[in-house]
Amino acid sequence: MVAKDQKTNHHLDPTEIGLRPGLEGVPVTQSAICDIDGVKGELRYRGYPIAELASHSSFLETTYLLIWGDLPSPQQLRDFEREVQMHRRVSFRVRDMMKCFPASGHPMDALQSSAASLGLFYSRRAIDDPQYVYDAVVRLIAKIPTMVAAFQLIRKGQDPIQPRDDLAYSANFLYMLTEREPDPLSARIFDKCLILHAEHSLNASTFSARVTASTLTDPYAVIASAVGTLAGPLHGGANEDVIKMLEDIGDPEQANSYLEKAIAKKQKIMGFGHREYKVKDPRASILQGLAEELFARFGKDEMYDVARTLEKQSERSLGKKGIYPNVDFYSGLVYRKLGIPRDLFTPVFAISRVAGWLAHWREQLGANRIFRPSQIYTGEKSRKWKQADDRLSPTSI
Ligand code: ACO
Repeated sequence: MVAKDQKTNHHLDPTEIGLRPGLEGVPVTQSAICDIDGVKGELRYRGYPIAELASHSSFLETTYLLIWGDLPSPQQLRDFEREVQMHRRVSFRVRDMMKCFPASGHPMDALQSSAASLGLFYSRRAIDDPQYVYDAVVRLIAKIPTMVAAFQLIRKGQDPIQPRDDLAYSANFLYMLTEREPDPLSARIFDKCLILHAEHSLNASTFSARVTASTLTDPYAVIASAVGTLAGPLHGGANEDVIKMLEDIGDPEQANSYLEKAIAKKQKIMGFGHREYKVKDPRASILQGLAEELFARFGKDEMYDVARTLEKQSERSLGKKGIYPNVDFYSGLVYRKLGIPRDLFTPVFAISRVAGWLAHWREQLGANRIFRPSQIYTGEKSRKWKQADDRLSPTSI
């Protein structure tokens, strides 16, 4: 299959287009959801600066904005909040299925499986029916946090606890996870974290969601494929690795020698670098402020000094290449202070990013063309079939 030149309508050979590994810098869609200026360090959802949303909005209001394009009226927001609240519970069948998952499994794998299973329970695939789309959005936003919290309790040998209708979205998640009603500061800061992680244009998991959406499959499969992509250590999984790295360093005095050794060995510093940003990620700065707010109230995490020293020391070596802290660098320290276990950092990221994935799902359906890139074939051109006896045995290769 050869691509067409958009202007001349002539077919182009893939070798003429040139190989672009990782599709770096290649536009593959148009989008009105999220705008990033990686040089100025600016991020906007639907035109609103991220810092304003984090200061004034709530996660559900931001979700509404991302998915439907405009801030909701007070009545629209109340309706959306009420619908989400009504759909927080998951079927006992989903909970029973999760009880069969190995307790030692990673919670991202549990989330990917349970998100995909929703497609079995809501199997009417009517993606051109606006009511179906609205219901799917509400169900996914409502149930993903319940499933993340459920797996946490199930793997400890406990029964999941039911959502509490008197608690708002973020407070309810922390309650289901920790079995304690969170204090208002923790709930507010967690809600801001969800806003900060909700959307980030065509990153790997969002691209994955759009590719899956482009086949016109159901939204549960779209979200499950995005969750699987987010799990990798070069993407959402990095927030877990940042804490491991800070603990390995252990002491601010050791930060510089760790950095020098890692750079000499060409190892990546987790939580640093971004394809889009050549300056510090604006979300990292806001998360750092949120971490400080939590530390002021509940006591400092000693790894914070290690993180700050590492950031400072990296300026000389990594800064000149445009490599600065990304969203994952300080988020783990915030989550840790909120009592969230380390291997739930990425599922918590997913709870939030579902909003962005669903916005892209809707946008993809609005102007769909199935994704089918080309490749440059590098294998053998033509080979003659050999009977089994004529082939070399593995030991003689
Ligand atoms: N530490 C040290 N060096 C780095 C880092 C890092 N974290 N990131 C990039 N570099 C260096 C590379 O070694 C390379 O150097 P070279 O040109 O001398 O060979 C150069 O910067 C370019 O690196 P690439 O990997 O090509 O940059 P790319 O844009 O492909 O990667 C990525 C972006 C994957 C995020 C990368 O910076 C990375 O692996 N960071 C660590 C993992 C991480 O924090 N991921 C979370 C990203 S945010 C998110 O997904 C939510």
